Amino acid sequence: MNRERETWGSRIGFVLAAAGSAVGLGNIWRFPYITGENGGGAFLLIYIFFTFVVGVSIMTAEFILGRNSKLSSVGAFKSKNRSWTFVGALSVLAPFLIMGYYPVIGGWSLAYTVKSLTGLLASPDIEGTFVNLITGTWEPLIWMLIYLSFNVFIILRGVTKGIEKASVILMPTLFVLLLIIIVKGLTLPGASEGLKFLLKPDFSQVRPSSFLVALGQAFFSLSLAMGVMTTYASYLGKEESLPQNALIISTMDFTVALMAGLALFPALFAFGMEPSQGPGLVFMVVPKIFAAMGGVGPIFSFIFFAALMVAALTSSMSLLEVVVSYLMDERGMERRKATLLSAGAMSVVCIFASLSQGPMANFTIFGVGTLDFLDLVTDKIFLAVGGLFISIFVGWKLDKEMLFNEFTNHGKSAVGIFPLWYNLIKYVIPVMVTAVAVSGILSIKQTGVMLTGVAIIALLAIFSKKL
Ligand code: PHE
Repeated sequence: MNRERETWGSRIGFVLAAAGSAVGLGNIWRFPYITGENGGGAFLLIYIFFTFVVGVSIMTAEFILGRNSKLSSVGAFKSKNRSWTFVGALSVLAPFLIMGYYPVIGGWSLAYTVKSLTGLLASPDIEGTFVNLITGTWEPLIWMLIYLSFNVFIILRGVTKGIEKASVILMPTLFVLLLIIIVKGLTLPGASEGLKFLLKPDFSQVRPSSFLVALGQAFFSLSLAMGVMTTYASYLGKEESLPQNALIISTMDFTVALMAGLALFPALFAFGMEPSQGPGLVFMVVPKIFAAMGGVGPIFSFIFFAALMVAALTSSMSLLEVVVSYLMDERGMERRKATLLSAGAMSVVCIFASLSQGPMANFTIFGVGTLDFLDLVTDKIFLAVGGLFISIFVGWKLDKEMLFNEFTNHGKSAVGIFPLWYNLIKYVIPVMVTAVAVSGILSIKQTGVMLTGVAIIALLAIFSKKL
């Protein structure tokens, strides 16, 4: 290809972009809740282990693949070993499918950011307001399209002028917004109950499933097995230490997850509300907290939903970039065409996902609506299976000397921990991730959905050599 590959303008730009991808809805609407449900501080210890041992190792492996091949996901695998192209293909298909619903939720966040200032909290029926919004026809579609167009705007501008610039502005903004909410929450009377729920170690609540939940969450939250880290590292210079950057990015992701817990739970408990997870928590319970704050409520509500939208935006733009960079690297497309084409296709899927909440609720795929189908197949199947294949591929199929050179920058740094990382990736992690993959697949109650997900992987394995 004669086009020159873009590279990050600065290290901090890369770190913030990767952390931006990692920090998303997973940190805000799932992490605090599953922590409280699985033993608080006791679960945190497990989560810390999985994030910093397993997560950092796989992230480093993805960085090596991307930087060494200077290609996005499909090309990175293909250039090393054609038979393994399907793992790359899986990590382009999965982001595409996630982008078939993530912008719908991004659109809800945008709607709530605006509505916070226009009377949302005054409604006597906050839950009903949310149900009305998402089950509508045109309104959620319009918010989704506006949200998606933010992504398009950023990705059209490329790596440094788009992704890097947006991340450098948005990530510190997110941090400050969350801090404001934390301070407000912690100073409410009765806040300490929430802290207890989140942090008090309760080993009796740690079940065998807690380990699987922790590893699955670490994967999703760190944006692993989605081509993102491979793609972002393909724009990275030779002098950066890969394991060190993986550690920094994972630390940021973990910090924001904790911050989200601190922002939400003290306030929740202060107002005597029950925590839950998913959209119910942020869109139905959280606004009630702000409504209970009285006059200052709308401002804090605006800040919270703006933070949620920013967190979602830096994640979804990374997903769009994975698909765009595939089309550029492997299909020779210009960035502009690749971006418009991908976003166009994603918006079609999003229309179905959005309408599946209301007007098209009767249209189901093996018993579940479009949005749930996309979530199940990606989160429960593709993520773990992809992570498993990545670790096997890197540990067993790649040249150890190349791995050493990329890991240590030709013997310049982190030499001592290379053997540890290598053995983890080769032996330990595949076993752990197999457990998550199998249990995730078996946890899907709808057999049709499960079989479809597995069949897609099999078809990719057969046909992706042509990609
Ligand atoms: N890590 C993001 C979150 O926690 C989600 C995501 C997954 C983004 C995979 C990109 C790739 O919400």
